[in-house]
Amino acid sequence: MIRIQGGRPLHGSVAVSGAKNAALPELASVLLSDRSFKIRNVPDVADIRVMLRALEGLGAEADFNEGDVEIRIPGINTCSVPPEIVRTSRASILLLGPLLARTGEARVSLPGGCPIGDRKFDFHLEGLRRMGARIRVEDDFIVGRAPRLRGIDYTFPGVSVTGTENLLMAACLAEGETILRGCAREPEIGDLISLLRGMGAQIVSEGNDVIRVQGGSGLAGITHRVIPDRIEMGTYLIAGGFPGNDVTVEGGDPDAVTILISALRESGIRVESNGNAIRVHGADRILPLNVETEPFPGFPTDLQAQMTTLLTQAEGESRIKENIFDNRFQHTVELGRMGASICVDGDTACINGPTPLRGCPIHATDLRASAALVLGGLIASGETVVRNADQLFRGYENLPEKLRGLGAQIRVEKE
Ligand code: EPZ
Repeated sequence: MIRIQGGRPLHGSVAVSGAKNAALPELASVLLSDRSFKIRNVPDVADIRVMLRALEGLGAEADFNEGDVEIRIPGINTCSVPPEIVRTSRASILLLGPLLARTGEARVSLPGGCPIGDRKFDFHLEGLRRMGARIRVEDDFIVGRAPRLRGIDYTFPGVSVTGTENLLMAACLAEGETILRGCAREPEIGDLISLLRGMGAQIVSEGNDVIRVQGGSGLAGITHRVIPDRIEMGTYLIAGGFPGNDVTVEGGDPDAVTILISALRESGIRVESNGNAIRVHGADRILPLNVETEPFPGFPTDLQAQMTTLLTQAEGESRIKENIFDNRFQHTVELGRMGASICVDGDTACINGPTPLRGCPIHATDLRASAALVLGGLIASGETVVRNADQLFRGYENLPEKLRGLGAQIRVEKE
């Protein structure tokens, strides 16, 4: 549970941690080699801890210390990833492709339900089947067998981040050439490609949405530094935009958040970019916006909830259209309890502002919704208690400490 005394301005600098959504597939890639790896700048968050537990269950020897993961998987003890691992982090689906590629078999528990909407995996399974894997779903497990994966020319029916990552990793050990078309283009995929190339994989990313891989074997182990987390960075940039705040976010990549910076500027918020430090001056008058979430380089769905909170303070009607997931507006109910005026109609939320927010007990439903509710608590009058706040610690490293460093009065209590 997180307890926040609202109404205190945020001033100062905050440093961005490594990107959870880059580190997760990169840790899974360790399965593709029996050599030693050092993955640096890994955020110490729950999803990473779950992935490391899953890899240790498969046979990994791992040490996670001060942001550095030293890991190797000399041999695979089992090809089965148990439900308790998968249920807590959906990213364990990323073990499917590498496991099949390395051992020829995999048994991964079907990820449980997810609060932000239907999280299908048909693209993952279809691509692996086309590579020669026999895959069936039985008793809530995905069970796959593939004596030898072979390269394919595959066009994704829709953009999928982990779908692209799963097939990309599998293709590195498949026989022959794989061409993946309609790939996701998130920066985390570019970072995964640079890791795989460092391991010796032959990958050409043709800049747009096509990735070509020459399958091989005997991939090496390497040392790799994870890119900064653009969603964490975006969350703090949005925090800086509220009236009275003045926040500098350091160590991120401004090129990974250009569309957010444009949106903040369009709403009248002053943003100064200077190398890898970005300063946001809170605006007294925030102008309403129309925002649509899209795959990268569009507006990230993972910043939609946080932007919704900001727009409760905009003067007039804003509209946010969520095009990626079909149930990612649950934070609007909780913001409404604090006094926000938001109506949701299908895939669009209309936000009328500005509305003063009042602190009260609220419930976090998912990772990014919990960040949005914390932002609400920071500007609300009085005390806000965010329950189910473990969601937050799945993906934000040291968030309460980082916010206290900016002047927030926030603390974590046992639920
Ligand atoms: C990744 O999830 C991220 N997670 C999510 O971040 C992020 O919200 C999402 O990409 C979109 O950017 C990680 O990288 C670990 P998708 P992923 O496959 O890969 C449909 C966070 O907050 N789809 O790109 O699971 C799917 O239903 C998390 O850090 C299929 O239909 O998302 C969704 O509507 C939340 N079939 C859309 O595509 C498939 O086989 C995008 O999903 C796969 C996906």
